[in-house]
Parts: sequence; C-alpha cells; structure tokens
Amino acid sequence: MGEAKKLYIRTYGCQMNVYDSERMAEALAPAGYALTDVPAEADLILLNTCHIREKAAEKVYSELGRLKSLKAGNPDLRIGVAGCVAQAEGEEILRRQPLVDLVVGPQSYHRLPEMEARVRAGGRVLDTDFPAEDKFAHLPRRAGTPAGPTAFLTVQEGCDKFCSFCVVPYTRGAEASRPVARLLDEAQALAARGAREITLLGQNVNAYHGEGQDGASWSLARLIREMARIEGLLRIRYTTSHPNDMADDLIAAHGEEGKLMPYLHLPVQSGSDRILKAMNRRHTAETYLRLVERLRAARPDLALSSDFIVGFPGETEADFETTLDLVRAVGYHSAFSFKYSPRPGTPAAERAQISEDVKADRLSRLQALIDDQARAAQEAMVGRIAEVLFEKPGRLPGQLVGKSEHLHAVHAPADGAAPGDLRRVRIARAEAHSLAGEIRPG
Ligand code: 5AD
Ligand code: SF4
Repeated sequence: MGEAKKLYIRTYGCQMNVYDSERMAEALAPAGYALTDVPAEADLILLNTCHIREKAAEKVYSELGRLKSLKAGNPDLRIGVAGCVAQAEGEEILRRQPLVDLVVGPQSYHRLPEMEARVRAGGRVLDTDFPAEDKFAHLPRRAGTPAGPTAFLTVQEGCDKFCSFCVVPYTRGAEASRPVARLLDEAQALAARGAREITLLGQNVNAYHGEGQDGASWSLARLIREMARIEGLLRIRYTTSHPNDMADDLIAAHGEEGKLMPYLHLPVQSGSDRILKAMNRRHTAETYLRLVERLRAARPDLALSSDFIVGFPGETEADFETTLDLVRAVGYHSAFSFKYSPRPGTPAAERAQISEDVKADRLSRLQALIDDQARAAQEAMVGRIAEVLFEKPGRLPGQLVGKSEHLHAVHAPADGAAPGDLRRVRIARAEAHSLAGEIRPG
C-alpha cells in the first residue's frame, strides 16, 4: 500500500450513483486512498454525475468551475468526472474544462486504479467504453468494514425501453442483470457487516433476469425470496420498476414475503394515453391503474410512489388534467415530478416544446396535489404503530431516526435502542417531513 492519499467523491443523481461511489472508493483503496469529506484536503476529487435532466449536467460544470482555485493551490490534485455526464459528454468535458484529468463512464469503474496511475504520471484519461466484462466482478467489496443499517445493491443496470425523453439507455447502456450467486454473496457480506435492510437497485430492476446457480434465468421475485433467507437481513426493497415488468410472481411476493417492504416506486410519468404513447411507454393509464389494484389486492397496505413529467411535447391542459385524475385515483405516499427537459439525442428533444411558464404552472399544481396526499399519508399514521429500522442519531440529543416499513422518516427517544435495531414505535404526531413517536416495550 502506498502513502495515505485522500479521495473526495461528490455524488449527484440517483441511488445507483450512491452505490457506484462506494464501489469507486473501494476500488481505489488498494491504491492508498482513504475517503475525506473535505475537498480542500483531497489528492483526487471525483464528481459522480447525473445526466437525467438539464440542471443536473449544468451543476457539474459550475462545480468544476469552483474547483479551479483548489487546483491552482495544489498542483498534485487530480480531478475526475464519472457517471452519466462523463458517459454522454466525455470528450466535450475534456475540451471545455482543462482542469479535468480523468473522465470515466459508469461501465469502466473497475479500471479506475490503472487510470489513476496514469493521471498521477501527468496524463489525461478518457474511458467511456462499454466493455464486455462485468465491472462488478472486478470491484470486490472489502470485507470487515462495518456497513450502515441500510445498504444499496445494484442487481441490474441499463435499460432497453427507450422512453422517448430518457437518456438512460444511452448513458447506462443495454439492460444487463448480474448473476444470482454474486448478489447473494454480496448481500450475505453486507448482512455480516451489519446491514439490516438492502435496497436492490436497477434502472429497470423488475426486468431482472440474472443467471441462477442452477443455470436458469431467475426473476426478481425469485432473487428476493432467496435473499430473504439470509439471517440478519430484516428488510428488502427494490427500485426502480417499470409497470410492464411487474410480473405475477413479483406481485405475489408482496403478499407472501414478510421481509419485502410494503412500498413500491412505480413511475407512470403521465395519466394521458396520448402522452404515454408519445413517450413510448407502452402502457396506458388504465393498465397502470389495474396493476395498482392487483398490487393492493396482494398487499393492501402497499405504499406507492411515482415519477411524473409535466410539459412533455404535445401535452395539452386536458392531458395534464388526466394526470391529476390519475394521481387522485391512485393516492400516492410520495412522488417526484419534473418539468420535461429536452435531452440531446433523445427523440422527444426534436419535437415542438411547451413553454416554461406552462411547465412551471403545471408542476406547481401537480406538486400541490402530491404534497396533500403525502401529508394525508403521514397524518394517517398518527396513533398507529410503525415498525422502524433505526439508522442514526436524530437532531436532538438522545434521539434516533429511522424508516418505517412505508419509508416514512420516524424519530423517537432512543430508550436503549441503537442504530440497526428494529423497533415498534407508537406515532404521536406528524411533522413537516417526518413522524415523531415513542418506542414501545417488547
Ligand atoms: N425530463 C424530465 N424528467 C425526466 N426524467 C427522465 N428523463 C427526463 C427528462 N428528459 C424523469 C422521469 C424518470 C425520472 C428518473 O426522471 O420521471 O422516471
Ligand atoms: Fe428511462 Fe426508465 Fe424509460 Fe428506461 S424505462 S428509458 S430508464 S424512463
């Protein structure tokens, strides 16, 4: 091991980037890097970027601008851009930002140690290939280091759906599932290191079809059922799902597998069939609503969340109102909504665009409705018992915070409990973004 060097990673965007950032830190540990959360101390700064909407990419360029003074003060500092902006705009980043030494796309993280050596020696490196090998096979998790009570585990990456607004099929590449044996090993290791809850990640996680130990192709439901046998692992979640891949065995698992949490992020994007068609979603509002019914028949207390895009090219006021109708019909626990953002290289970017004012107006109306529903879901918990997995100390001394089965943030006086403990909590009141309660004995 070389002398201790410091690595600072800033993560933008989705949970998969959070997972990837952890794996990059682990990949660079043998090269002598320890993580720091102070950029000014770092010998290597990596920005793990997101390209999903315009603002996300802009943030990267302004962050790079801010790093200029650090680099001027420290000639040994190396700066890298990773993630989806790196994949989409690799060469342009090198051209626009001379202070960037390294550009690495999401499929090449296992080659980071050798790239680091090249930039240390003064080179500039660009690697945005889609190599044939599985990068995760070359990114072993370090055993021994304690994990937090909750962990992410990428089981599937990429997407073949080509929704007409989305860059993911271009930045993350074709849909690919990791083999079952590796995932079970990794989950086992996480549980042994203290993880109590694992969230299985994939851009299209319910399209999972990895190779099982028996050589057959395993569904996500089968993977979940097998993973649920791991001792010490108490909870399993998965995200993000496409309605068309919500298979019967997965719906059934929600009713049968006790460790699978009653919460599902199931993006619908719009309530208008005309817009869904233009988005190339290949489902209708009606089929989505029917799917929700089947899920709730399997698990009546299932909490749902979704993503919505407003102001997609061609969206009329009437289209938008059908989206509001769909939200009212489903009743979400939470949801994310975005103004449509034209992404270069995607089909919808070429179409006639809706004005910013209209987008902003629709966004605020949709968000107001979603906020009402989220508040109602929180208030419905008052007086009830939630099972809470505590994650960390709360804001006040002696307090712990964690998540309920339905992913509500809950805080309570610790009362002898510690992070990693699962406890029954009586909910006393709903606050702005969390629930407050008290741990029940037993
Ligand atoms: N504009 C706005 N929102 C988008 N999303 C994906 N691409 C775009 C875009 N071009 C949203 C979708 C998706 C979420 C991750 O981001 O709602 O589900
Ligand atoms: Fe993007 Fe999701 Fe559609 Fe794939 S399914 S193209 S990741 S929005």
